Amino acid sequence: MNTIAVCFVCLGNICRSPSAEAVMLRQVSRAKLAHKIVVDSAGTGNWHIGQPPDERAQRAARKRGYDLSLLRGRQIGAEDFARFDLLIAMDDANAVALTEVCPPAYRDKIRLLMEFATRDDSRVVVDPYFGGDEDFERVLDQCEDACEGLLKALRTQLVV
Ligand code: 4NP
Repeated sequence: MNTIAVCFVCLGNICRSPSAEAVMLRQVSRAKLAHKIVVDSAGTGNWHIGQPPDERAQRAARKRGYDLSLLRGRQIGAEDFARFDLLIAMDDANAVALTEVCPPAYRDKIRLLMEFATRDDSRVVVDPYFGGDEDFERVLDQCEDACEGLLKALRTQLVV
């Protein structure tokens, strides 16, 4: 029985990647695959280590039934590249920052979340930190779309 571990990565780990983590966890749980798929998130920056997700991200998520309140910011570390099968970046800057600290042997593990989307053809999940409530809604729309595609892709890798 194999398992797959995925880590969503943004800049601060207080807006986009915790949102993606919660969205993916719910989809994995509904698919009854919680014992097979490990989900986590991290930031490339260190400003928000130990902090709960941004209030605006929590509020937008809560309206859709996701609870982000127990998550805490953390920074990606060298050990994460061995530990996770996929490091899924929200935007190009996050992917570049990951590549810079990733051991060369693991670079194929770095992907962009929106590669897995099927309804929204945006390349990236735009940083909502300096935006408004509608930007946080869009983050969730994009995460819900892309996590469906990601789960579908992961199912093909799982020996159940
Ligand atoms: P995130 O959003 O990368 O989606 O968590 C941000 C959070 C904090 C900052 C930037 C983006 N910041 O500049 O502190």
